Amino acid sequence: MAKDGFAVAGLAAAIAADYRQNPQRLHSLAGVEELRAGFDIGLPDIGRPSDQVIDHLVRAAGPGLVGNTQPGFHGWVMGSSHPAGVAADWLTSAWGQNAAIYHTSPAAAVAEEISAKWLLDLLDLPRTAAVGFTSGATMAGFIGLAAARGEVLRRVGCDIAREGLQGAPLIKVFISDESHASNFAALRYLGFGESNLVRIPTNAQGMMDVAALTEALGSGSNGIDRAPKIIICQAGHINSGAFDRFDAIADLAGRSGAWLHIDGAFGLWARAAPDLKMLAAGAERADSWGVDGHKWLQMPYENGFAIVSDPVALRRAMDIAAGYLTHSADDGRNPTHFGPELSRRARGFAVWTMLQTLGRHGIIEVIDNHCRAAKRLAGRLVDVPGVRVENDVVLNQLALTFGTENDESAQRDRATQAVCDRLNGTTNYFLRTAAWNARTILRVSVIGAGATIMAMDKLADDIRDAWCSFLAERHQGASCC
Ligand SMILES: Cc1ncc(COP(=O)(O)O)c(C=O)c1O
Repeated sequence: MAKDGFAVAGLAAAIAADYRQNPQRLHSLAGVEELRAGFDIGLPDIGRPSDQVIDHLVRAAGPGLVGNTQPGFHGWVMGSSHPAGVAADWLTSAWGQNAAIYHTSPAAAVAEEISAKWLLDLLDLPRTAAVGFTSGATMAGFIGLAAARGEVLRRVGCDIAREGLQGAPLIKVFISDESHASNFAALRYLGFGESNLVRIPTNAQGMMDVAALTEALGSGSNGIDRAPKIIICQAGHINSGAFDRFDAIADLAGRSGAWLHIDGAFGLWARAAPDLKMLAAGAERADSWGVDGHKWLQMPYENGFAIVSDPVALRRAMDIAAGYLTHSADDGRNPTHFGPELSRRARGFAVWTMLQTLGRHGIIEVIDNHCRAAKRLAGRLVDVPGVRVENDVVLNQLALTFGTENDESAQRDRATQAVCDRLNGTTNYFLRTAAWNARTILRVSVIGAGATIMAMDKLADDIRDAWCSFLAERHQGASCC
């Protein structure tokens, strides 16, 4: 490689800095055909200079980028790719490290080991738990549930590694309809079908009904059902931010011998903030947890954590063995014991960097500020006639609906969509609606870098204006708010 072969990385860094330091569009401008035309310029027989290719990439991608690092982005529960995490991510790529086994990158393995220790401390989970570094919470759920599947079968004498699933006893999975879609996907990848699931009802906030779970488990009676069981609950409902009642559910899991998994993609971070920790009280009693780094920790994408209280159960589920994948007792952490990938990105460098950059107090501040901002937004909207805050704003999520007293539900749904469209039309916001409790809601996620109290005051005013202008149009100019 020429001595200046890495000049192209400098070019990319300059472009990236320019992108991040200047206000950017929130919405993709381009249709799919325009984007295809930009990228589909033919596979060259002879390669081109890399600076020209990067330049073309920037022009091809530009119109289709979504501004989720920008203030005003509230469409999904996503962090803002903090510059320090991005920088560490770049170095990870430049170093070309492969976090497959200890020997492919001892530094990557140790960065994971130390970051894992800090994460367990921050989230106040059992310090002996194993932490896998994953692409996100979906894979974290997959990993936790894979460990669960193997362990609950092992307890009834079935070795899944030898016997597979074909002749194994049926595992019952207790899960609510309000569980995040990624958990149903993870279950499907693991061989669980709809008929293996016991659906537990929820309250209006999406919290699991503990009495219904008790009944479904059959616990408390003499004839406890000894079938292998897994319970899946959540810290942070995607629409309401609600938390299940972990202490009560952990009691039930203990009595019925069930493995308890918590999907805490964003909500588990409440445990890092002393004023919010009680929301996730008892979560430490679970057997496995899934949590994201690319949400509240503001990491760049492909950062999640699969945490399993029993490292041996995780290793049984994940280990990859081959003659050339050597590991000796003197080595540090062997990454293949913690996740399903062999060759993979050395994710620990960016995690270590973000934990050092924010520090404990910085993380608490980010979470506290977002939750305060979400409550402020709710407080500013609650008295606006026709605007309903449908959830108890316990964390950072708001579910809003719009409609006059006489509106039927279909009219309310249309009004909510119209308000969302109007706000998006200003180009100052990126917002999305969702279907929840048989309604269309405007879901506002307060988790990005620009989501300050001041920004929420402005958003409250803009929501009110969008709603009023919609109403005025509907009533042909009559003033309403
Ligand atoms: C509650 C919950 N669980 C799981 C996920 C999936 O996470 P990821 O997209 O990182 O795989 C999300 C994503 O928003 C979520 O909010």
